[in-house]
Amino acid sequence: MKKILTTLSIVMLSLIAAAESKTIVVYFSATGTTKAAAQKLVKETGASLWEIEAAEPYTAADLDWRNKKSRSSVEMQDEEARPTIKQCTDITPYETVYVGFPIWWGICPRIINSWIDNNLSQLEGKKLIPFATSGSSGIEPAVEYLKKTYPDLKWQKGKLMN
Ligand SMILES: Cc1cc2nc3c(=O)[nH]c(=O)nc-3n(C[C@H](O)[C@H](O)[C@H](O)COP(=O)(O)O)c2cc1C
Repeated sequence: MKKILTTLSIVMLSLIAAAESKTIVVYFSATGTTKAAAQKLVKETGASLWEIEAAEPYTAADLDWRNKKSRSSVEMQDEEARPTIKQCTDITPYETVYVGFPIWWGICPRIINSWIDNNLSQLEGKKLIPFATSGSSGIEPAVEYLKKTYPDLKWQKGKLMN
């Protein structure tokens, strides 16, 4: 009986590990808060982790939302802005993709659009779970924006991880 239970446990653990290995947490974080949330998700789910990095990192001045001419303000005012990403991701092996970001101006930073645009065909059919951190805003407008901008992708309910 003990042997059967041990074998069953091993089989179940292998099944769980296989399911977990098909999940990846992809995130952008300018000041570390979303990074910590992404690491927490990885701990909970056993997923792989990937950081979206800007080819040109954001400075404190770039992030000044009070300044209408700062880089982040200029990007957020331009719906077509697509900041360049440092490195590509290979998301082909994954079925579930958590997509994390800080809320900027109520939605996701444009670099998230850059990443989605770069991976659009591979993302089709995958389960996409948005998560975010913010000062106080909710994630719903960001999820609505993503659904509207990429209606062919399988967006799930978002998770605010403040
Ligand atoms: C350019 C910019 C715009 C922001 N806009 C919002 C916003 O609209 N609503 C909000 O609650 N927080 C806003 N924030 C705060 C961030 O969402 C929050 O500090 C987030 O946790 C930062 O995550 P990070 O450390 O991963 O970059 C903004 C921050 C920046 C830099």
